[in-house]
Amino acid sequence: MARKFFVGGNWKCNGTAEEVKKIVNTLNEAQVPSQDVVEVVVSPPYVFLPLVKSTLRPDFHVAAQNCWVKKGGAYTGEVSAEMLVSLDIPWVILGHSERRAILNETNEFVGDKVAYALAQGLKVIACVGETLEQREAGSTMDVVAAQTKAIADRVSNWTNVVIAYEPVWAIGTGKVASPAQAQEVHDELRKWLAKNVSADVAATTRIIYGGSVNGGNCKELGGQADVDGFLVGGASLKPEFIDIIKAAE
Ligand code: G3P
Repeated sequence: MARKFFVGGNWKCNGTAEEVKKIVNTLNEAQVPSQDVVEVVVSPPYVFLPLVKSTLRPDFHVAAQNCWVKKGGAYTGEVSAEMLVSLDIPWVILGHSERRAILNETNEFVGDKVAYALAQGLKVIACVGETLEQREAGSTMDVVAAQTKAIADRVSNWTNVVIAYEPVWAIGTGKVASPAQAQEVHDELRKWLAKNVSADVAATTRIIYGGSVNGGNCKELGGQADVDGFLVGGASLKPEFIDIIKAAE
C-alpha cells in the first residue's frame, strides 16, 4: 500500500508574531504538489497555533509540539490533548529528543503520552532516535526499538501515528544522516514493526526522517525506499521549506 509522503515543519521555540505571519504568507503563496501527493503539517509554538491555524492555507495542517500525558487539571504550564482537540488542532509531536534530553521524558512517559493523545483523537508524530554515543557503541537499533516498543506496548491502532526517526547527532548540527544511514534504520524499524506489531502496520505506517534536512539533501533522502518524508527543524522556518515539500514529487 502506498504511503503518502509527509513533510512536517517543527518550528520549535522560534518566532515572534510578526515572523510567524511572514512564514505563513510564504507558505500560502507557494506552489507545491497537491494534498494527494504530500501531507504538509507545520508545528508552531503553542501560543501561535490559533493564529497559524486561522491564516494558513487549508491544504496545510498544524501540529502542537507537545501535550500533557493525561486529562488537564492542576499541571501548571502544561497544555492538554483536550485543549488541542477543542481548537481543532489535528496533530501533535511527541517524544522529541529535545524533550527527552532536556526535560527527562522517558520512553514510558512518551508512550503514555502517545496513547493518551491518540485516545483523544489527535494524530501523533512520535519521535525516536539515538545519540552519537549510542550510535558509536553500535546500539542504534536497540535504542530505537526500545523507544518504539514503549509506544507499541500502549497503542493498538497505528492509523494515526507517523514515526519520525531523528538521530540526535543530526539535529541542528548540519550533519545530516547519509541516505544509506537513514534507509538502514528506517528499514530495520519497519522490520521491527512487522515482527512486533503486524505486517500491515509495518507496510502502512509512515517513517519520516529528521535531522538537518534542507533544500539540497531532501531529494536523495526522500528517494530512499523506506523514507516517507521529513520532520524539518531549522529549514522549516525558511523559504527552502517549499523545496523540501517539493521533494515529494
Ligand atoms: O524535529 C525536527 C528536528 O529536530 C530537526 O531539526 O534543525 O536539524 O532540521 P533540524
